[in-house]
Amino acid sequence: MNQLAQSPARSFAPLDIERLREQFPALHQTVHGKPLVYLDSAATALKPQAMIDAVNWAYSRDCANVHRGVHQLSQRATDSFEAAREKVRGFLNAREAKECVFVRGTTEALNLVAHGCASQHLQSGDEVLISELEHHSNIVPWQLACERSGARLVVAPITDSGELDLGRFIEKLSDRTRVVAISHVSNTLGSVLPIAEIARLSHERGAVVVVDGAQSAPHLPIDVQALGADFYAFSGHKLYGPTGIGVLYGRRELFQKLPPYQGGGSMIRVVTFEKTTYQGLPERFEAGTPDIAGAIGLGAAIDFLNGIDAGARAAHEHDLLTYGTRLLEAIPGVRLIGTAREKIGVLSFVVQGIHPHDLGTIVDTAGVAIRTGHHCTQPLMARFGVPATARASLGLYNRRQDLDVLASAIHQAQEMFR
Ligand code: ALA
Repeated sequence: MNQLAQSPARSFAPLDIERLREQFPALHQTVHGKPLVYLDSAATALKPQAMIDAVNWAYSRDCANVHRGVHQLSQRATDSFEAAREKVRGFLNAREAKECVFVRGTTEALNLVAHGCASQHLQSGDEVLISELEHHSNIVPWQLACERSGARLVVAPITDSGELDLGRFIEKLSDRTRVVAISHVSNTLGSVLPIAEIARLSHERGAVVVVDGAQSAPHLPIDVQALGADFYAFSGHKLYGPTGIGVLYGRRELFQKLPPYQGGGSMIRVVTFEKTTYQGLPERFEAGTPDIAGAIGLGAAIDFLNGIDAGARAAHEHDLLTYGTRLLEAIPGVRLIGTAREKIGVLSFVVQGIHPHDLGTIVDTAGVAIRTGHHCTQPLMARFGVPATARASLGLYNRRQDLDVLASAIHQAQEMFR
């Protein structure tokens, strides 16, 4: 669907944004004496009170290690931790909770898969296919895997609007392609990639499909089975959850074949000095004490999202994206980078004559938080011939007036540089 051109087919009761905003304490502060306008949710989303309370409870009441104690507190902590895993399963529509491993975030998840593939799956002559719009965390782990295994990294190009060039992608796929590692949504451009189609084509060639879901999980309904993802990684902190927690989903048949990534407590069955045997999923990949409160907080963030009508969320985000796109396009000297037909709420842009870092500093004085830089996508910056962009990224709590404040701050910056 062309999200910019078409409205969602059904109409939904609009979100009560002011009530929703009340649940985010960080929104209610001033920056440089101005009300905060937070437009950096792709970097990290603000946190709802229910999530903060769940983390608080995990530390202040059920504070114990998991899977280790018979005492009451440990059992409560274990129950909450495993309940969070079940919430993740539901969120992803994975077949089993065991297929969902808690990790530190998307970066660790992708490193885990790439490391495992380098050990067991890749060899000289094989190819790993990625796209031109990948975040560094879906490039560098595969470069390391290729160095270790002798495989070759192949890059599928994108179009000028920031969409995957599917025809060129198909040309790059071959019987040598063993892994396709690809973003569901670009963090810099907001483009949504057709993962189900990519997975179908990749599977026809016998490749394993690894999806970087860091930017899709907060915005799109995720169904790993319908997408055909063999692995899918996301971070809690972009999903209104805590930092330091994320999830790697893996299809059981493949995931259980990967070698352990880290050794230590919890991931073993029997240890002797001669030989160690390992647990199955998910413990095999959860060495050491996990981020217990983080996992519980992530579960609470999923509950929070599930409490909001998915159609109303999509309609609200679509409205903001359309409004923001038109607003920025109307400012002379502003060039949007990333105009894919299907997008989520990310507006990357450059302003003629103003370096993005200067722009970021000036709009900050107006209370507006945006991200500026290469967004951990240096090859993508090179593709568009810019060193950096300014990026406004939207969360559920944003309103049209936030974008108005951004637009007027851009005008102010233009005045200063005139
Ligand atoms: N990857 C995050 C971003 O795009 C940090 O801002």
